[in-house]
Amino acid sequence: MTAQPTHDHLVTDRSLLSTKAYGTGRHLAARQSLYQWQTPRHDLPGIVVNELADVRGVVADVGCGNGKFVTRVREDRPDLKLLPMDVSHGILSALPGAVVADVQQLPLADGALGAVLALHMLYHVEDQAQAVRELGRVLAPGGIAIVSTNSRRDKRELEQLWRQAAGDVLGVREGPARVQLSARFTLEDAPAILGTVFGEIRTIPLPGVIEVTDAEPVVAHLASYEAWADRMGVPFLETIERARERVDETIQAEGAFRVTCLGGMLVCR
Ligand SMILES: C[S@@+](CC[C@H](N)C(=O)[O-])C[C@H]1O[C@@H](n2cnc3c(N)ncnc32)[C@H](O)[C@@H]1O
Repeated sequence: MTAQPTHDHLVTDRSLLSTKAYGTGRHLAARQSLYQWQTPRHDLPGIVVNELADVRGVVADVGCGNGKFVTRVREDRPDLKLLPMDVSHGILSALPGAVVADVQQLPLADGALGAVLALHMLYHVEDQAQAVRELGRVLAPGGIAIVSTNSRRDKRELEQLWRQAAGDVLGVREGPARVQLSARFTLEDAPAILGTVFGEIRTIPLPGVIEVTDAEPVVAHLASYEAWADRMGVPFLETIERARERVDETIQAEGAFRVTCLGGMLVCR
């Protein structure tokens, strides 16, 4: 049996993350926007605001990206002091008060926070055990960490689409898998990793189905992996154009292209 290629070092490469991947919010926004075609719609920032109901004081959003959560929490909870943090200086440019920081070594005193957010970011971290220790260290007694990621079953149709399109380009039945971001920290694995520090972990599952009748949002999602384009073992743009044709064919035949999603939030104490 041939081993599946692992892309771990590419997914955690800090210089790549802070430039090509997240030097701006462009690629992240393309991935976030696909969810507008999901049923049911989950108001993720709203869920975070609810979970923060009993929290007071300072809240850090570590790996905050383009600030989707920071902006909403600031609006809904002006009493909290929000601290946006990310390893990418570029993506923080529009966020007042943001700090360049790595979750593996937070520039915060022990017990400084009422809550810490680490949303869709721990899969990018090389030493996850150290990152989780840091999340625990900076929380005051009774504080909470809110973490999110995807299931290993999430968006399987997109992985399949990529492999088929890559296969078409290469003239083989199935091409190589694309870089899979959340595979390093899945919803299934997260409780054990977080459980080394936190005694109580509640998972909020967020299932849904994305249904598009135009290929563009799916194409934009695939194109958002551009940072890893030269490491996929297949011509990137050609594969995307072939994927577009395949999505168009499915839409013509079935009326829509569907993608099954399973994400989740983990509230840790
Ligand atoms: C997929 S984005 C998620 C952004 C945001 N939390 C959200 O859910 O919309 C991952 C973010 O984590 C940041 N990141 C990656 N590794 C990090 C680290 N070690 N410490 C802090 N931030 C990191 C990236 O630069 C990127 O902005």
